[in-house]
Amino acid sequence: MDRVVNIDALTYSGNPINLSDIEDERYHFVHASINDKNTVARLLEQEKIDVVIHLAAESHVDRSINSVQPFIATNIDGTRVLLECVREREEKGQNVAFVHISTDEVYGSLGTDDSPFTEETPLDPQNPYAATKAAADMLVRAFVNTYGISACITRCSNNYGPNQFPEKLIPLMTLNAINGNSLPVYGDGKQVRDWIHVNDHAMGILAVMDGLISGRVKTGEVINIGADNEQSNIDVIRAIIGYTNADDTLIQHVNDRPGHDRRYAMGYEKAKQLLGWSPIIEWKDGLAQTVDWYLTNTTWVNTVLSGEYRDWVKHHYTDEREQG
Ligand code: DAU
Repeated sequence: MDRVVNIDALTYSGNPINLSDIEDERYHFVHASINDKNTVARLLEQEKIDVVIHLAAESHVDRSINSVQPFIATNIDGTRVLLECVREREEKGQNVAFVHISTDEVYGSLGTDDSPFTEETPLDPQNPYAATKAAADMLVRAFVNTYGISACITRCSNNYGPNQFPEKLIPLMTLNAINGNSLPVYGDGKQVRDWIHVNDHAMGILAVMDGLISGRVKTGEVINIGADNEQSNIDVIRAIIGYTNADDTLIQHVNDRPGHDRRYAMGYEKAKQLLGWSPIIEWKDGLAQTVDWYLTNTTWVNTVLSGEYRDWVKHHYTDEREQG
């Protein structure tokens, strides 16, 4: 019987409500940080863990521009702790497959006419968050080459869907539109992202995990996950305005994000060919359902709009970004 142990530090964006509907004896939640080596090592041994899916990260680019240290602590050193714990179990004869969840941001930014990223695109991170993710990817590779652990890396494009913390574009704009607050577009709003529904990403991760266990995905291999769904930020915002019946005049162009990547597009041919995985959720359906989720799940929204979140919004959008 498969069991899942979920380790989460529940920092500012973690919310226990997201998982409150899981009532299953095969699921076990542990409130701990991945930087807590004793706890991670104990769990790997006691729970006889045979797969680690490493999703834990500081993930918001704007926060990394404000303060790099938490990104180094979680994304680089936290990954180091997990890798060392896996290595120690392997040395004791316990097989542990390690699936490291990375991002398309490690490849840097594309020009308008460039082909999408492939797994062979050189790493060229452009902001502190992306640099820490690229460093973590390199650590995984080093542990494969040096210690022979069984690990692979997935790199995915921008996720959207329910339960996403409203610092990211889609939930932020949705809640602002619903509440009649301004919609802060960085720069000209023509930056492009390749949006994928979180459920499609989750299915992609499971396909990669199965591939690593079965040997179709080799240790050290990288698999891109994307959606063929390039959208400019301003088009995403206009679509949200449409679904929420908000007023166009809420759109406000503010100062651009420093070092703002212009375009991401993910080539995921390898995932298709090797694993038979493709995204199945249509953008228009996925976005409409996501906006609807934020409109109806008011309890979640109210608990998430905590003091810390309000402080961030005040600091980031009022103090730092004078309207452009
Ligand atoms: O591409 C994958 C990455 O996508 C993940 O690795 C990151 O963890 C995730 O945060 C996301 O990075 P982005 O910087 O692309 O996502 P974000 O939602 O912050 O911004 C999306 C675009 O919208 C980006 O071009 C910046 C713009 N934006 C964002 C915010 C929050 C605005 O114009 N205004 C805003 O208020």
